[in-house]
Amino acid sequence: MLRIGIIGAGMMGGTHASAYANIDGVELVGLADARIEAAQKLAAEHGARSYASLEELMEAENPDIIDICLPTDLHKAHVLYAASCGKHVFCEKPIAMSVEDALEMTEACRAAGVTFMIGHALRFSPDYQMAKRIVEDGKLGTVGTVRMIREGAPPGWSAWFKDKSRSGGVIVDLGIHELDWLQSAFGEPQRVYAKIAEEGLPGEHAFVSIRMKSGVIAHLTASWALPDGFRSFLELAGTEGVLKLDSDDHKPIAVTRKGNGAGADAELPSSSWESPLSRSPYEVELRHFVDCVRTGTEPLITGADAARSLALALAAVRSAQTGEVITFE
Ligand SMILES: NC(=O)c1ccc[n+]([C@@H]2O[C@H](COP(=O)([O-])OP(=O)(O)OC[C@H]3O[C@@H](n4cnc5c(N)ncnc54)[C@H](O)[C@@H]3O)[C@@H](O)[C@H]2O)c1
Repeated sequence: MLRIGIIGAGMMGGTHASAYANIDGVELVGLADARIEAAQKLAAEHGARSYASLEELMEAENPDIIDICLPTDLHKAHVLYAASCGKHVFCEKPIAMSVEDALEMTEACRAAGVTFMIGHALRFSPDYQMAKRIVEDGKLGTVGTVRMIREGAPPGWSAWFKDKSRSGGVIVDLGIHELDWLQSAFGEPQRVYAKIAEEGLPGEHAFVSIRMKSGVIAHLTASWALPDGFRSFLELAGTEGVLKLDSDDHKPIAVTRKGNGAGADAELPSSSWESPLSRSPYEVELRHFVDCVRTGTEPLITGADAARSLALALAAVRSAQTGEVITFE
Protein backbone atom coordinates (compact mmCIF):
# COMPACT_ATOMS: atom_id res chain seq x y z
CA MET A 1 0.00 0.00 0.00
CA LEU A 2 1.42 3.39 -1.01
CA ARG A 3 0.70 6.09 1.56
CA ILE A 4 -0.14 9.53 0.16
CA GLY A 5 -0.05 13.03 1.63
CA ILE A 6 -1.60 16.00 -0.19
CA ILE A 7 -0.57 19.59 0.50
CA GLY A 8 -3.21 22.10 -0.57
CA ALA A 9 -6.83 21.30 0.21
CA GLY A 10 -8.35 23.65 -2.36
CA MET A 11 -9.84 22.92 -5.79
CA MET A 12 -7.14 20.53 -7.05
CA GLY A 13 -6.45 19.00 -3.63
CA GLY A 14 -10.10 17.94 -3.53
CA THR A 15 -9.94 16.65 -7.12
CA HIS A 16 -6.84 14.57 -6.39
CA ALA A 17 -8.26 13.23 -3.11
CA SER A 18 -11.37 11.97 -4.96
CA ALA A 19 -9.20 10.46 -7.71
CA TYR A 20 -7.01 8.51 -5.26
CA ALA A 21 -10.18 7.04 -3.71
CA ASN A 22 -10.70 5.19 -7.03
CA ILE A 23 -7.13 3.88 -7.31
CA ASP A 24 -6.27 0.49 -5.84
CA GLY A 25 -3.27 0.05 -3.58
CA VAL A 26 -3.04 3.62 -2.33
CA GLU A 27 -4.16 5.23 0.90
CA LEU A 28 -4.62 8.96 1.40
CA VAL A 29 -3.27 9.33 4.93
CA GLY A 30 -2.91 13.09 5.37
CA LEU A 31 -4.01 16.46 4.00
CA ALA A 32 -2.26 19.71 4.84
CA ASP A 33 -3.39 23.27 4.29
CA ALA A 34 -2.54 26.63 5.85
CA ARG A 35 -6.33 27.00 6.17
CA ILE A 36 -6.61 24.20 8.69
CA GLU A 37 -10.41 24.11 8.42
CA ALA A 38 -10.10 23.29 4.70
CA ALA A 39 -7.68 20.47 5.49
CA GLN A 40 -9.96 19.18 8.26
CA LYS A 41 -13.04 19.18 6.03
CA LEU A 42 -11.37 17.35 3.14
CA ALA A 43 -9.58 14.94 5.49
CA ALA A 44 -12.88 14.06 7.17
CA GLU A 45 -14.46 13.34 3.76
CA HIS A 46 -11.65 10.93 2.91
CA GLY A 47 -10.92 9.31 6.28
CA ALA A 48 -7.49 10.99 6.46
CA ARG A 49 -5.83 13.20 9.06
CA SER A 50 -5.33 16.97 8.74
CA TYR A 51 -2.26 19.15 9.23
CA ALA A 52 -1.38 22.83 8.93
CA SER A 53 1.83 22.31 6.93
CA LEU A 54 3.73 19.79 4.87
CA GLU A 55 6.40 19.55 7.57
CA GLU A 56 3.77 18.52 10.16
CA LEU A 57 2.25 16.01 7.76
CA MET A 58 5.65 14.55 6.94
CA GLU A 59 6.64 14.18 10.60
CA ALA A 60 3.37 12.53 11.63
CA GLU A 61 2.66 10.32 8.61
CA ASN A 62 5.96 9.73 6.79
CA PRO A 63 4.07 9.05 3.52
CA ASP A 64 5.58 7.49 0.37
CA ILE A 65 4.15 10.12 -1.98
CA ILE A 66 3.66 13.86 -1.64
CA ASP A 67 1.09 15.43 -3.94
CA ILE A 68 1.44 19.22 -4.26
CA CYS A 69 -1.74 21.19 -5.00
CA LEU A 70 -0.57 24.62 -3.87
CA PRO A 71 -0.55 27.99 -5.65
CA THR A 72 2.13 27.84 -8.36
CA ASP A 73 4.66 30.14 -6.64
CA LEU A 74 4.82 27.63 -3.75
CA HIS A 75 5.54 24.55 -5.89
CA LYS A 76 9.33 24.89 -5.89
CA ALA A 77 9.92 25.07 -2.12
CA HIS A 78 7.55 22.16 -1.45
CA VAL A 79 8.94 19.94 -4.23
CA LEU A 80 12.50 20.55 -2.97
CA TYR A 81 11.44 19.75 0.60
CA ALA A 82 9.59 16.56 -0.40
CA ALA A 83 12.57 15.40 -2.49
CA SER A 84 14.96 16.14 0.40
CA CYS A 85 12.81 13.80 2.52
CA GLY A 86 13.17 11.09 -0.17
CA LYS A 87 9.49 11.17 -1.15
CA HIS A 88 8.04 10.62 -4.62
CA VAL A 89 6.44 13.84 -5.83
CA PHE A 90 3.42 14.64 -7.94
CA CYS A 91 3.05 18.39 -8.53
CA GLU A 92 0.26 20.30 -10.24
CA LYS A 93 1.00 22.32 -13.37
CA PRO A 94 2.56 24.76 -14.13
CA ILE A 95 5.70 23.24 -12.63
CA ALA A 96 7.07 26.58 -11.36
CA MET A 97 7.32 30.29 -12.04
CA SER A 98 10.63 30.11 -13.95
CA VAL A 99 12.43 27.60 -16.13
CA GLU A 100 15.48 27.79 -13.84
CA ASP A 101 13.33 26.79 -10.86
CA ALA A 102 11.73 24.00 -12.90
CA LEU A 103 15.12 22.55 -13.81
CA GLU A 104 16.36 22.86 -10.21
CA MET A 105 13.30 20.92 -8.97
CA THR A 106 13.78 18.28 -11.66
CA GLU A 107 17.46 17.85 -10.79
CA ALA A 108 16.70 17.66 -7.04
CA CYS A 109 14.23 14.81 -7.64
CA ARG A 110 16.67 13.02 -9.94
CA ALA A 111 19.48 13.34 -7.36
CA ALA A 112 17.16 12.08 -4.59
CA GLY A 113 16.17 9.11 -6.75
CA VAL A 114 12.44 9.86 -6.44
CA THR A 115 9.73 9.77 -9.12
CA PHE A 116 8.62 13.26 -10.18
CA MET A 117 5.65 14.06 -12.38
CA ILE A 118 3.73 17.22 -13.30
CA GLY A 119 -0.05 17.29 -13.77
CA HIS A 120 -0.47 18.28 -17.40
CA ALA A 121 -3.83 16.54 -17.43
CA LEU A 122 -4.70 17.24 -21.07
CA ARG A 123 -2.25 14.51 -22.05
CA PHE A 124 -4.52 12.08 -20.18
CA SER A 125 -7.74 13.42 -21.63
CA PRO A 126 -9.11 10.67 -23.93
CA ASP A 127 -10.18 13.08 -26.69
CA TYR A 128 -6.80 14.84 -26.89
CA GLN A 129 -5.06 11.45 -26.70
CA MET A 130 -7.16 10.27 -29.62
CA ALA A 131 -6.46 13.44 -31.63
CA LYS A 132 -2.71 12.81 -31.17
CA ARG A 133 -3.13 9.17 -32.22
CA ILE A 134 -5.06 10.22 -35.37
CA VAL A 135 -2.13 12.50 -36.29
CA GLU A 136 0.44 9.78 -35.58
CA ASP A 137 -1.54 7.27 -37.67
CA GLY A 138 -1.31 9.69 -40.61
CA LYS A 139 -5.10 9.96 -40.98
CA LEU A 140 -4.85 13.72 -41.55
CA GLY A 141 -1.83 13.48 -43.86
CA THR A 142 0.75 16.17 -43.12
CA VAL A 143 -0.68 18.59 -40.56
CA GLY A 144 -0.09 22.23 -41.45
CA THR A 145 -2.08 24.17 -38.88
CA VAL A 146 -3.25 23.75 -35.29
CA ARG A 147 -5.89 26.00 -33.74
CA MET A 148 -6.52 25.75 -30.01
CA ILE A 149 -8.85 27.55 -27.60
CA ARG A 150 -9.16 27.31 -23.83
CA GLU A 151 -11.42 29.98 -22.40
CA GLY A 152 -13.59 30.62 -19.40
CA ALA A 153 -14.40 33.00 -16.61
CA PRO A 154 -11.52 34.01 -14.33
CA PRO A 155 -11.00 31.36 -11.61
CA GLY A 156 -13.44 32.60 -8.99
CA TRP A 157 -12.54 30.23 -6.19
CA SER A 158 -9.18 31.73 -5.17
CA ALA A 159 -7.81 35.28 -5.33
CA TRP A 160 -4.15 34.28 -5.91
CA PHE A 161 -4.80 33.47 -9.62
CA LYS A 162 -5.24 37.23 -10.31
CA ASP A 163 -1.74 37.93 -8.99
CA LYS A 164 0.54 37.27 -11.98
CA SER A 165 3.57 36.95 -9.72
CA ARG A 166 1.85 33.87 -8.21
CA SER A 167 0.02 32.30 -11.19
CA GLY A 168 1.89 33.66 -14.22
CA GLY A 169 -1.40 34.89 -15.74
CA VAL A 170 -3.70 33.27 -18.27
CA ILE A 171 -1.06 31.92 -20.69
CA VAL A 172 1.11 30.34 -17.99
CA ASP A 173 -1.75 29.04 -15.87
CA LEU A 174 -4.42 28.10 -18.43
CA GLY A 175 -2.93 28.18 -21.93
CA ILE A 176 -0.06 25.96 -20.79
CA HIS A 177 -2.42 22.96 -21.08
CA GLU A 178 -2.53 23.45 -24.88
CA LEU A 179 1.13 24.50 -25.16
CA ASP A 180 2.16 21.27 -23.43
CA TRP A 181 -0.11 19.14 -25.64
CA LEU A 182 1.11 20.97 -28.76
CA GLN A 183 4.74 20.15 -28.00
CA SER A 184 3.91 16.53 -27.14
CA ALA A 185 2.20 16.13 -30.54
CA PHE A 186 4.27 18.39 -32.83
CA GLY A 187 7.71 18.77 -31.27
CA GLU A 188 9.63 21.91 -30.52
CA PRO A 189 8.66 25.53 -31.22
CA GLN A 190 10.81 27.77 -33.39
CA ARG A 191 9.27 31.15 -32.62
CA VAL A 192 6.32 32.68 -30.81
CA TYR A 193 4.43 35.96 -30.94
CA ALA A 194 1.64 36.92 -28.53
CA LYS A 195 -0.77 39.67 -27.55
CA ILE A 196 -2.72 39.98 -24.31
CA ALA A 197 -5.77 42.21 -23.83
CA GLU A 198 -6.97 42.89 -20.30
CA GLU A 199 -8.25 46.42 -19.81
CA GLY A 200 -11.98 46.52 -19.23
CA LEU A 201 -12.30 42.73 -19.47
CA PRO A 202 -13.17 40.33 -16.64
CA GLY A 203 -9.70 38.81 -17.07
CA GLU A 204 -6.80 38.42 -19.51
CA HIS A 205 -7.54 37.42 -23.11
CA ALA A 206 -4.45 36.17 -24.97
CA PHE A 207 -3.62 35.32 -28.58
CA VAL A 208 -0.48 33.24 -29.13
CA SER A 209 0.94 32.40 -32.59
CA ILE A 210 3.61 29.73 -32.78
CA ARG A 211 5.74 28.44 -35.62
CA MET A 212 6.99 24.92 -34.82
CA LYS A 213 10.40 23.66 -36.03
CA SER A 214 8.49 21.11 -38.14
CA GLY A 215 6.84 23.98 -40.04
CA VAL A 216 3.45 23.52 -38.34
CA ILE A 217 1.74 26.83 -37.58
CA ALA A 218 -0.26 26.95 -34.36
CA HIS A 219 -2.57 29.47 -32.75
CA LEU A 220 -3.84 29.51 -29.19
CA THR A 221 -6.56 31.63 -27.65
CA ALA A 222 -6.29 31.47 -23.86
CA SER A 223 -8.85 33.53 -22.03
CA TRP A 224 -10.21 34.41 -18.63
CA ALA A 225 -12.37 37.09 -20.23
CA LEU A 226 -15.64 35.19 -20.50
CA PRO A 227 -18.35 36.36 -18.11
CA ASP A 228 -19.22 32.73 -17.42
CA GLY A 229 -18.81 29.19 -18.70
CA PHE A 230 -15.92 27.30 -20.24
CA ARG A 231 -14.89 26.02 -23.65
CA SER A 232 -11.98 24.12 -25.15
CA PHE A 233 -11.47 23.65 -28.88
CA LEU A 234 -8.91 21.97 -31.14
CA GLU A 235 -8.70 22.03 -34.92
CA LEU A 236 -5.99 20.25 -36.89
CA ALA A 237 -5.82 20.76 -40.66
CA GLY A 238 -3.72 18.39 -42.77
CA THR A 239 -3.23 17.41 -46.40
CA GLU A 240 -5.75 14.55 -46.01
CA GLY A 241 -8.32 15.97 -43.64
CA VAL A 242 -9.43 18.16 -40.77
CA LEU A 243 -10.05 17.15 -37.16
CA LYS A 244 -12.26 19.17 -34.84
CA LEU A 245 -12.82 18.70 -31.17
CA ASP A 246 -15.10 21.10 -29.36
CA SER A 247 -16.24 20.86 -25.76
CA ASP A 248 -19.45 22.68 -26.80
CA ASP A 249 -20.26 20.05 -29.42
CA HIS A 250 -22.34 16.93 -28.84
CA LYS A 251 -19.84 14.95 -30.91
CA PRO A 252 -16.66 14.16 -28.99
CA ILE A 253 -14.45 14.38 -32.05
CA ALA A 254 -15.03 14.77 -35.78
CA VAL A 255 -12.74 14.08 -38.72
CA THR A 256 -13.52 15.27 -42.25
CA ARG A 257 -11.37 13.58 -44.88
CA LYS A 258 -10.97 13.55 -48.61
CA GLY A 259 -12.98 10.72 -50.13
CA ASN A 260 -15.66 10.73 -47.47
CA GLY A 261 -17.94 12.57 -49.83
CA ALA A 262 -18.30 16.34 -50.00
CA GLY A 263 -17.71 17.58 -46.50
CA ALA A 264 -18.85 14.31 -44.97
CA ASP A 265 -18.02 13.90 -41.33
CA ALA A 266 -16.25 10.72 -40.31
CA GLU A 267 -17.41 11.02 -36.75
CA LEU A 268 -15.69 8.66 -34.37
CA PRO A 269 -18.43 6.84 -32.50
CA SER A 270 -18.14 7.37 -28.80
CA SER A 271 -18.73 3.63 -28.28
CA SER A 272 -15.32 2.88 -29.84
CA TRP A 273 -13.51 4.65 -27.07
CA GLU A 274 -14.29 5.89 -23.64
CA SER A 275 -16.16 9.15 -23.61
CA PRO A 276 -14.04 12.03 -22.29
CA LEU A 277 -16.79 12.61 -19.78
CA SER A 278 -16.76 9.07 -18.40
CA ARG A 279 -13.26 9.13 -16.94
CA SER A 280 -11.51 11.92 -15.11
CA PRO A 281 -8.15 12.75 -16.76
CA TYR A 282 -6.93 13.56 -13.24
CA GLU A 283 -7.66 10.01 -12.12
CA VAL A 284 -5.96 8.58 -15.22
CA GLU A 285 -2.85 10.74 -14.71
CA LEU A 286 -2.58 9.90 -11.00
CA ARG A 287 -3.04 6.19 -11.74
CA HIS A 288 -0.17 6.49 -14.25
CA PHE A 289 1.98 8.25 -11.64
CA VAL A 290 1.27 5.60 -8.99
CA ASP A 291 2.14 2.86 -11.52
CA CYS A 292 5.44 4.65 -12.28
CA VAL A 293 6.27 4.81 -8.56
CA ARG A 294 5.51 1.09 -8.17
CA THR A 295 7.51 0.00 -11.21
CA GLY A 296 10.28 2.62 -11.05
CA THR A 297 9.55 3.76 -14.61
CA GLU A 298 9.74 7.33 -15.86
CA PRO A 299 6.41 9.14 -16.00
CA LEU A 300 4.96 10.30 -19.30
CA ILE A 301 5.42 13.91 -18.19
CA THR A 302 8.84 14.54 -16.69
CA GLY A 303 10.07 17.69 -15.01
CA ALA A 304 12.04 18.45 -18.18
CA ASP A 305 8.85 18.19 -20.30
CA ALA A 306 7.05 20.54 -17.94
CA ALA A 307 10.02 22.95 -18.03
CA ARG A 308 9.76 23.01 -21.85
CA SER A 309 6.04 23.76 -21.70
CA LEU A 310 6.71 26.52 -19.19
CA ALA A 311 9.48 27.94 -21.39
CA LEU A 312 7.05 28.32 -24.30
CA ALA A 313 4.38 29.88 -22.09
CA LEU A 314 6.86 32.35 -20.58
CA ALA A 315 8.22 33.21 -24.03
CA ALA A 316 4.66 34.03 -25.14
CA VAL A 317 4.22 36.32 -22.12
CA ARG A 318 7.56 37.98 -22.89
CA SER A 319 6.47 38.52 -26.49
CA ALA A 320 3.23 40.15 -25.33
CA GLN A 321 5.17 42.39 -22.96
CA THR A 322 7.85 43.47 -25.45
CA GLY A 323 5.98 43.29 -28.77
CA GLU A 324 8.85 41.15 -30.09
CA VAL A 325 8.82 37.78 -31.80
CA ILE A 326 10.69 35.37 -29.49
CA THR A 327 12.89 32.85 -31.30
CA PHE A 328 14.03 29.59 -29.67
CA GLU A 329 17.62 28.45 -30.09
N1 LIG B 1 -4.53 20.53 -13.83
C1 LIG B 1 -5.54 21.39 -13.85
O1 LIG B 1 -6.45 21.26 -14.67
C2 LIG B 1 -5.57 22.50 -12.84
C3 LIG B 1 -6.77 23.19 -12.59
C4 LIG B 1 -6.77 24.19 -11.62
C5 LIG B 1 -5.59 24.51 -10.94
N2 LIG B 1 -4.43 23.82 -11.25
C6 LIG B 1 -3.17 24.14 -10.56
O2 LIG B 1 -3.21 23.51 -9.28
C7 LIG B 1 -2.55 24.31 -8.32
C8 LIG B 1 -3.51 24.62 -7.19
O3 LIG B 1 -4.65 25.29 -7.71
P1 LIG B 1 -6.07 25.25 -6.98
O4 LIG B 1 -7.08 25.67 -7.97
O5 LIG B 1 -6.26 23.97 -6.26
O6 LIG B 1 -5.87 26.43 -5.93
P2 LIG B 1 -6.71 26.67 -4.60
O7 LIG B 1 -6.49 28.09 -4.23
O8 LIG B 1 -8.09 26.16 -4.75
O9 LIG B 1 -5.98 25.72 -3.53
C9 LIG B 1 -4.73 26.01 -3.00
C10 LIG B 1 -4.73 25.66 -1.53
O10 LIG B 1 -3.41 25.88 -1.01
C11 LIG B 1 -3.54 26.39 0.31
N3 LIG B 1 -2.30 27.09 0.67
C12 LIG B 1 -1.86 28.29 0.19
N4 LIG B 1 -0.65 28.56 0.73
C13 LIG B 1 -0.33 27.52 1.53
C14 LIG B 1 0.81 27.20 2.33
N5 LIG B 1 1.87 28.03 2.40
N6 LIG B 1 0.81 26.04 3.03
C15 LIG B 1 -0.25 25.22 2.97
N7 LIG B 1 -1.36 25.46 2.24
C16 LIG B 1 -1.39 26.59 1.51
C17 LIG B 1 -4.73 27.32 0.22
O11 LIG B 1 -5.28 27.57 1.51
C18 LIG B 1 -5.67 26.54 -0.68
O12 LIG B 1 -6.56 25.70 0.04
C19 LIG B 1 -2.07 25.56 -9.07
O13 LIG B 1 -0.73 25.38 -9.46
C20 LIG B 1 -2.96 25.61 -10.30
O14 LIG B 1 -2.38 26.24 -11.40
C21 LIG B 1 -4.42 22.83 -12.15
